[in-house]
Amino acid sequence: MENRQIPKWSELRELLQFRRMELDPIKRRLSRSFTIADLRNHAKRTTPRAVFNYTDGAAEEEITLARCRQAFRDLEFVPSVLRDVSNPDPTTELFGRKLAFPLVLAPTGYTRMMHNDGEKAVARVAARFNVPYTLSTVGTTTVEDLAAAAPDGNNWFQLYVAKDRQKTAALIERVLASGYEVLMVTVDTQVGGSRVRELRDGLTIPPALTVRAFADMATHPSWWFDKLTTPPIEFASLRGFSGNSAEVADQIFDPALTFEDIAWLRSVWPHKLLVKGIQSVADAERVVGLGCDGVVLSNHGGRQLDRSPTVLRILPAVRERLGPDRVVLIDSGVMSGSDVLAAVALGADAVMVGRAYLYGLMAGGERGVARALEILRGQYLRSMQLLGVKSTAGVTPQHVAFVD
Ligand SMILES: Cc1cc2nc3c(=O)[nH]c(=O)nc-3n(C[C@H](O)[C@H](O)[C@H](O)COP(=O)(O)O)c2cc1C
Repeated sequence: MENRQIPKWSELRELLQFRRMELDPIKRRLSRSFTIADLRNHAKRTTPRAVFNYTDGAAEEEITLARCRQAFRDLEFVPSVLRDVSNPDPTTELFGRKLAFPLVLAPTGYTRMMHNDGEKAVARVAARFNVPYTLSTVGTTTVEDLAAAAPDGNNWFQLYVAKDRQKTAALIERVLASGYEVLMVTVDTQVGGSRVRELRDGLTIPPALTVRAFADMATHPSWWFDKLTTPPIEFASLRGFSGNSAEVADQIFDPALTFEDIAWLRSVWPHKLLVKGIQSVADAERVVGLGCDGVVLSNHGGRQLDRSPTVLRILPAVRERLGPDRVVLIDSGVMSGSDVLAAVALGADAVMVGRAYLYGLMAGGERGVARALEILRGQYLRSMQLLGVKSTAGVTPQHVAFVD
């Protein structure tokens, strides 16, 4: 028989820990978010369904996105034990600038639709965390306003080459004049992908006040309040284009884009030039042959061609073919700091995330983006140490293996 006793109040008091209730709902939900998936869950509750689905969804049957996420999960780490990792250094250098860790925030259009804080907030957080931010051609903040909001940021610009090349040339002039250091031209948007969730939700940009929208206001009042009391959502940098958003979108995706246009861009853009949307070794080699500084292996987060290649799988071959000096970035499906580490091990200089920071933005505006970056940075650092590696530079292909 065990010898039991009735606990004394003084002993119980030591065990009782009442935490003070956090009254700020955003702080409360962010402090309870430990993964990007947690932020996604909050985003789903705080944002109208059509907007959440626009961000979360992918093209057609969403096969590409599922495969990309699975590919990261199929990578196993191969740790080295008994290494001193007491002073880890997650930093890296990209285009002559130091990054806190190998992360770049990917370009995402319509960012003010996800949360009124929009692109400026994301760029400010990126500057604070010391990682680059890429403004999209179809951003809802102008090239100039973004540069002014994050003057110390490592600001990049993503370009869609418009059917009217003169308009593109004029936009490039503005990008140059505003001090952007890297131009990233996207080439996987010959036409828009078919995002079935958007079609089913009847999403319009800007969001229209339909009967469904009025019903939605009851469940997302603060999102609608922000939307109705702040400047309208528009393609801010493209004011020179005429027509509504759909008509403008039709002008900025050019199905006639070819390698000659890349050569033209190389001749007019004097700084670093990356090509985003590369999905084969041959195309990577070809654009680098035209003088581009590197490539972004990407299938647009599965939002364009469904059943497109799982870019993580071709990363080692691209790195091998381009050699150590060209920049190779990768995105599509990254949801954690250990995903970032795995891609770096396979040869990426840095990894881009789109949805991961947008979930944070939807869950808590600027503070939510900061929480997303905190989570990714923390996961990256811890995984690096557990892998037995002291620095980003020390991560090698020997540290990962695909489990088939
Ligand atoms: C809501 C949303 C909007 C996007 N808009 C753009 C864009 O304007 N230009 C572009 O090159 N890529 C765009 N992308 C693709 C991202 O740059 C990136 O390739 C993709 O999000 C990476 O996948 P991930 O979301 O799984 O990280 C967008 C992605 C999302 C989710």
